[in-house]
Amino acid sequence: MADTMAEVMQVIQRYAPKDFVPQVGLILGSGLSSLAEQITNPVTIPYQAIPGLQSGAVSGHASLLVMGYLGGVPIVCLRGRLHLYEGVQYESIRTLVRIVKKLGAHSFLITCAAGSMREEAGPGDLMMITDHINFHPGNPLVGKNDESIGPRFIGMEDAYNLGLQEIMQNTARRLNIPLHKGVYISTLGPSFETPAEIRAFKQWGADAVGMSVVPEVIIARHCGLRVACVAAITNAAAGMSKEKITHEGTLQFGELAARKLTKLIPEFLKEMSNAMA
Ligand code: HPA
Repeated sequence: MADTMAEVMQVIQRYAPKDFVPQVGLILGSGLSSLAEQITNPVTIPYQAIPGLQSGAVSGHASLLVMGYLGGVPIVCLRGRLHLYEGVQYESIRTLVRIVKKLGAHSFLITCAAGSMREEAGPGDLMMITDHINFHPGNPLVGKNDESIGPRFIGMEDAYNLGLQEIMQNTARRLNIPLHKGVYISTLGPSFETPAEIRAFKQWGADAVGMSVVPEVIIARHCGLRVACVAAITNAAAGMSKEKITHEGTLQFGELAARKLTKLIPEFLKEMSNAMA
């Protein structure tokens, strides 16, 4: 029997600093944990302490919820995400995203690693995600709907918030960080794609491929969080380069992209916070 969100929030509030209300939830993808070290006044909760949450175990992913400040903005950081390919159920991903909403955040900033299907976006580059194709099995909202969280049916035309996209683009321009734009397609994984799959995905209109993001975006939109997403391009997608795709390779180029994200994200948060004020 699943633990209720009320039980989950009782645990979170036990750890949370008094009157702490994050503006933003931030989820860090594989190899992008270095950003978490910049969080000031951190309060850390291991995922194991959260009732009912299945914990992931991929190297390069920690499993910690961190409350603190980045760029002076109060945030809650999901350091290490849960992936379906680990055998995790959608329910655990729902719990994590809904914690962000219940703590009072208005926005959700997603980072991820992705393979690029565009020649001009190479390993180490950043791509802002503007739309997605759900190629995951199923949908994280299947099942009984809790109307107190969000409506049964939700529109996805504006899944990636236009205002946040504009702030991210302006911030990247100001910092001289090249920022590609593109459509993300999610796969279950854990196998990477075949070249034939990548050719098909390109025809569908996808620019980047990865094993996460889409369930989180759907859950976040359902509960009313505004979403922004930036992908660290860790490799050319299958069949697009002579380099073989490996997890180690994705971590290495993830580091290069992480250095750019480490500059971009705190400034993005500051500008977003100012724009909201
Ligand atoms: N495919 C799927 N997921 C990924 C990739 C890829 O090429 N690179 C990083 N995550």
